[in-house]
Amino acid sequence: MKIAVVGTGYVGLVTGTCFAEVGIDVTCIDIDQRKIDNLHQGILPIYEPGLEEMVSRNVAAGRLHFSTKLSEAIKDCDVAFIAVGTPPGEDGSADLKYVLGVAREIGENMTNYGVIVTKSTVPVGTAAKVRKEITDALAKRGEAIDFDVASNPEFLKEGAAIDDFLKPDRIVVGVASERAEEVMTKLYKPFLLNGHPIIFMDIPSAEMTKYAANSMLATKISFMNDIANLCEIMGADVNMVRKGIGSDARIGTKFIYPGIGYGGSCFPKDVKALIKTAQENGYQMQVLQAVESVNDAQKEVLFDKVKKHFGGELQGKKMAVWGLSFKPKTDDMREAPSLVIIEKLLAEGCTVTAYDPVAMPEAKHSLGDTITYAKDQMEALIDADALLIVTEWPEFRVPNFEVMSRLLKQKVIFDGRNIYDAAELQEAGFAYHCIGIRT
Ligand code: UGA
Repeated sequence: MKIAVVGTGYVGLVTGTCFAEVGIDVTCIDIDQRKIDNLHQGILPIYEPGLEEMVSRNVAAGRLHFSTKLSEAIKDCDVAFIAVGTPPGEDGSADLKYVLGVAREIGENMTNYGVIVTKSTVPVGTAAKVRKEITDALAKRGEAIDFDVASNPEFLKEGAAIDDFLKPDRIVVGVASERAEEVMTKLYKPFLLNGHPIIFMDIPSAEMTKYAANSMLATKISFMNDIANLCEIMGADVNMVRKGIGSDARIGTKFIYPGIGYGGSCFPKDVKALIKTAQENGYQMQVLQAVESVNDAQKEVLFDKVKKHFGGELQGKKMAVWGLSFKPKTDDMREAPSLVIIEKLLAEGCTVTAYDPVAMPEAKHSLGDTITYAKDQMEALIDADALLIVTEWPEFRVPNFEVMSRLLKQKVIFDGRNIYDAAELQEAGFAYHCIGIRT
């Protein structure tokens, strides 16, 4: 089979590379010449564990190609994925100009039957708009080439993207014809060997599934953050409550970790977009509106604890921050809680020294030289009045607390991810503040 993947962002690059990995001939396309030049040299636009090796392996094997020329890559393709960005517009709705622009270009250049698949997260009704763009473009050319559209939302997580793609819990595909279903079944066959299901449905349901999945996960997180804040007030321990409820299979152990709010490129954007879609159609998503406002408030909780601990006197204090990315194993800074926390610390007159294993170059784009970047996690602590744990990178989990005691000016830790044992740290002489446990 031969496929094209348009857009070499997170989803596009992982999708294209993983299809090449199972032997399919893939061309990844992007309008950004520099991105394509870099990819030719093995330089990736994103950090994702294992991806670099997989790209170079498949390029060397001649199965993975990069190009700026959609018009050429689309020729003789069985499937074309649209995986370009859908940035949120001013009002929170997804901007479809890139998706529809690609659809038009496909219509202007396709030579044979193919399935055009939306892989970007797009609102219900987008596949119908894609179909119209292609139909109009073909009509302009005076061509009557048969084609299908499909919706195939992606559920991969940053930091675990390759595993998620190669061994998915499920593959959801919205189709409107048997022929499209056959093509998509053939394409995904290599990924179904472990018994993971491919779930075919109508196109609007597939489009909605993506938003419903992310919104449900965001809801779990905001719910737990609400419970955590109440636990603290009432003297309960959210870690115990989490274990207590998670052992009920109906609730499950995943995505019930309280923290400092969800970030990233997906949850905030998708929750907003679903609220907006509902509003536009005369319906209020009351639960999701609360999910969003709880999350906004949660991003400030750690700062509030800092302020309270120091009796409101933050002017001139030096704060060490461990972790900047919105979660571990990524350099993604989009909607990262660190940005909110650091902005508030700086506004109060603190100086901030941060360390992140991979996200510091990316963080510099938004934070610039308003903060200092340490070369390792211990350097960040020198003479600091407190340490804030903002991202739970594995290397922060078992640090040498004795060394930390010597480096910190004051032995105070604000842990936004509950990675330490409160009793152990208190025994070691630290003032320790975390989420959902009164300390
Ligand atoms: C999320 C979904 O998990 C993927 O299934 C989906 O494909 C993706 O969005 C997308 O739409 O593209 P991702 O944004 O990479 O993936 O990150 P997650 O691992 O889901 O974490 C999201 C946020 O929730 C992070 O800020 C994390 O710290 C937070 N989180 C997660 C919690 O605060 N508590 C938890 O228990 C779990």
